[in-house]
Amino acid sequence: MRKVLLENVEPGAKLARDIFSFEGRVLLTSGVEIRKDYIERLKHSGVTEVYIEDELSHGIEVCDVVRHKTREEAKGVVKKLMESCAFTNSINTSKVKELIDRIIDELLTNEDILLNLTDLKTVDDYTFEHSVNVCILALITGIGLGYNHLRLKDLGTGAILHDIGKLRIPESILKKPSQLTVEEFEEIKKHTVYGYEILKNNKNVSMISAFIAFGHHERYDGSGYPLQLRGENIHQCARIVAVADVYDALTSDRVYRKKLRPHEAVEYITSLGTRHFDAEIIESFTKYIALYPVGTGVLLSTREKALVVRNNRNVPTRPVVKIIYDENNDKVYDNNELDLTKNMGIFIVDSCEL
Ligand SMILES: [Fe+2]
Repeated sequence: MRKVLLENVEPGAKLARDIFSFEGRVLLTSGVEIRKDYIERLKHSGVTEVYIEDELSHGIEVCDVVRHKTREEAKGVVKKLMESCAFTNSINTSKVKELIDRIIDELLTNEDILLNLTDLKTVDDYTFEHSVNVCILALITGIGLGYNHLRLKDLGTGAILHDIGKLRIPESILKKPSQLTVEEFEEIKKHTVYGYEILKNNKNVSMISAFIAFGHHERYDGSGYPLQLRGENIHQCARIVAVADVYDALTSDRVYRKKLRPHEAVEYITSLGTRHFDAEIIESFTKYIALYPVGTGVLLSTREKALVVRNNRNVPTRPVVKIIYDENNDKVYDNNELDLTKNMGIFIVDSCEL
């Protein structure tokens, strides 16, 4: 299978993965032929990319480190929890903890797989999808740092609820389409303190999770908020969630900007480097991200275009690819794979659509 922009899908293409709606309902089942009217409907549902199966991508499997069903359930749980918290100001975390346990188990059984987290995101669904993605990204980083199960649980709970304080920020500010005033931005900043208060007052939530809500916008050099804490004064779990939060925001389409590709987002985070983030955490984080996810296109230094077939675990810049178009943009009818770790003269210049 391979991933294509919805606008590039030819009617009649075969869908390779189920497409889910905002509420987690299946919109289209894998295996169906995509008709023209389906494409229009998917566009209206906020879907921008789909996986298709065709002769180019035959035999290419995209593995999820966390099952799609688990991710969907996690989104639903966060949504319900946020809704009930808005009314009662308290949270029932038993469902969240159960889910975090399941996500940890799935991650630990898949430890050697690089994360293809460029999955099919929809714009509408941003808040809940973002919470779940930040949780998965943070947990993967925690696993890389050797956290034990208990610590991972606190990290995952804090990560999935890191923005819960936004419940106390007026919607008129949160959803304001134009630029925020200085006063409005000051108000938004308070979501960190509100989140800390909500989690701290819940006896079933560890203080570590509350520190995450408090510190996820602090920056290593002291340029963050709410307290301009520096370096190790910021709780390590909050430093992890800071990286995960920024990465997932950068790789998501927003109303005001197009998403970055994984390699661009990693480049951005690495370039901000030790100013904003903890170097050890960046290192652990980037080890687990597929810069060029399986099933996506890349432009090679030879000007050939290729499809990523597999990632090489310790060399994220050099996956195994299959050439699809030659340097003259003519289609190549050859099934040979090219392992870029064994062809050091060739490198990836950019990602591309195929
Ligand atoms: Fe936040």
